[in-house]
Amino acid sequence: MLREKIKKEYLKKIEDYKKHSKLYYEKSRPIISDAKFDILKKDIIELENKFNFLKSKDSPNKIVGSRPSKLFEKYQHKVPMLSLSNAFDAEDLKNFEKKIFNYLNKKIKIEYSVEPKIDGVSASLTYKNKKLFIGVSRGDGKEGEIITDNLKTIKDIPLQIKNSNFPEEIEIRGEIFIKKKDFEKIKDNFANPRNAASGSLRQKNPNETKKIPLNFIAYTFGYLKNNKFNYQTEFLKELSKWGFRTNPDNKVISTIDELIKFHNKFESIRYSLDYDLDGLVYKINDLRLQDRLGFTSNAPRWAIAHKFSADHANTKIINIEIQVGRTGALTPVAKVNSVNIGGVIVSNATLHNEDEINRKDIRIGDVVKIERAGDVIPHVIEVDKSKRDKTSKKFKFPTKCPSCGSATIKEFNSTTKKYDAVRRCTNEGFDCEKIAIERIKHFISKEALNIEGFGKKVVENFWNLNLIKKPQDIFALKYDKIINLDGWGKTSVNNLKNSIENSKKVSLQKFIFSIGIRHIGIENAKLISEYIKDISNFIKLIKTKKFDKFLNIDGIGETQIKSLKNYFSEHSNINIVTELSSILSIENHKINENGILKGKSFTITGKLNGISRAEAKSLIEKNSGKTLSSVNKNLDFLLVGEKPTRRKVDLAKEFGVKIISLDQLKNLLN
Ligand code: IVH
Repeated sequence: MLREKIKKEYLKKIEDYKKHSKLYYEKSRPIISDAKFDILKKDIIELENKFNFLKSKDSPNKIVGSRPSKLFEKYQHKVPMLSLSNAFDAEDLKNFEKKIFNYLNKKIKIEYSVEPKIDGVSASLTYKNKKLFIGVSRGDGKEGEIITDNLKTIKDIPLQIKNSNFPEEIEIRGEIFIKKKDFEKIKDNFANPRNAASGSLRQKNPNETKKIPLNFIAYTFGYLKNNKFNYQTEFLKELSKWGFRTNPDNKVISTIDELIKFHNKFESIRYSLDYDLDGLVYKINDLRLQDRLGFTSNAPRWAIAHKFSADHANTKIINIEIQVGRTGALTPVAKVNSVNIGGVIVSNATLHNEDEINRKDIRIGDVVKIERAGDVIPHVIEVDKSKRDKTSKKFKFPTKCPSCGSATIKEFNSTTKKYDAVRRCTNEGFDCEKIAIERIKHFISKEALNIEGFGKKVVENFWNLNLIKKPQDIFALKYDKIINLDGWGKTSVNNLKNSIENSKKVSLQKFIFSIGIRHIGIENAKLISEYIKDISNFIKLIKTKKFDKFLNIDGIGETQIKSLKNYFSEHSNINIVTELSSILSIENHKINENGILKGKSFTITGKLNGISRAEAKSLIEKNSGKTLSSVNKNLDFLLVGEKPTRRKVDLAKEFGVKIISLDQLKNLLN
């Protein structure tokens, strides 16, 4: 019962904190002293650190994070602020280069701009006519908050630039951070320096921001009118001439071996530096090459973050629970005695899958070494078998789904000729409770319908109350019931109503992604939406089940088609799509209508010189052309490289399809 008492005391403090935050931040009319307010925050954080069952979305720890604030006006970034892919070892770096070579279709010598990855929060500064025009937080990468006045208090940020070569309009990006020694003075109020920087940046009153000494180091540009720079390092030099602080440890390195040497050296001195850093960023120095490589859906192909090695700790496994994911995957999770790993309290560690448990012979009661690296979920590295109890037994992985009791399978992969390491529940519909809940969480997630204020916890809560059982139920919520629930009120219900209403307008690509078909991620959903163009075509298709047509799409293969067939073999999934299509307003796929290749279709065969298939495809599509994977009589062009498929060339000749080389395509595009 002690637990209940602690919880009650904690929730009372949270309520107080909510009330005083509102008075302090929103109304700027505090009724208690700053010191008392700080003590309240500190008390809550101390309680959370001591008892890991205490959690609240209103905790000062959470609010300081990146929750979009209602206090600031929103701003759509002209160029999205994406994140970076991570590398942890030489293997990852080699893979990174390999992907680049594949994309470019040739091996080249790469020069990197190497920059310390400061663990702060990024900010974007737009200058117009040499004056700071607007300052914005990263937000969700697409939309940030306007925090110009707060940013203006930071001494590293120039308000006006004198140099004559400063661009007419430029958006400069960099990291806001707090120095370690400054954090020492305020550490009781924040979980780490990063949280302190982010909290300070988002104060309503710029005078509050001023109190915490923030720093800014510039490292890149977003939008830049008439870019005249050729190299990242050239841009960094110029930044410093213009009066921005850049990192004195930036460097140019050309080989993976040298990158690793520098990484090792830097890792050993990281603790002596005055700021927190979690790795190094490697960016291809040549900006034109960066342009060619472009981006995947959330990270550039031309840069990578090489993280420092993770922290470890030993602890004991108390239990192994099996989680069921959206696609039916059964993931074993070790519940462990809580340990502090690098400042974060860890009480769960993933065991990945059945094979991993067998390979490492992981058992309940074992003492294990756990690793935590960046934002990656902590995992078990090894078992200390010398500490194993003699009576311990091998862990028996369930063969029935723990959520719905259905049979589980390990699929056979016809390419690798091996059975999957992951065991899955075979239920494709909404009869498996855990899968159903995860599918709804996916439906409302950021990349899908992005319903603000409708988080994972809300899904679980509404599910338990029988308010939602399928995605379409979200649009028929009984708000009169919700308003009386704990934690809900008139304003929050109204906000929820609005965000649900706003989410109804959705692109075809996002819609296809949102219904959660295995193997149909954002990129594949895009390929499908480009191909079928409009939702009515999609519905026709799922009713007739003629998914083999998609083999025409370059990028979609047997795996995706099999998965689509499986998914739509379940009638409830067809119903979901048809019902949602009448509730939502699904925008047809928009294409650049006016490009020079409008109405023209292309098939690519053979190895193109100096450009990959993906790049050629994106070049054609950028100019309004279409790419197909096979030759038919309506095809306009067959783009031919080295060693083409003979059959495609013969068919093209037979149908009178024009056969062109890459140079001819380039001529066509000027
Ligand atoms: S470049 C798309 N350069 O790392 C390019 N980012 O994981 C991304 N960061 O949000 C930005 N130091 O907050 C870049 N020298 C550096 C950086 C850096 C730290 C942070 C930044 C970004 C995150 C990406």
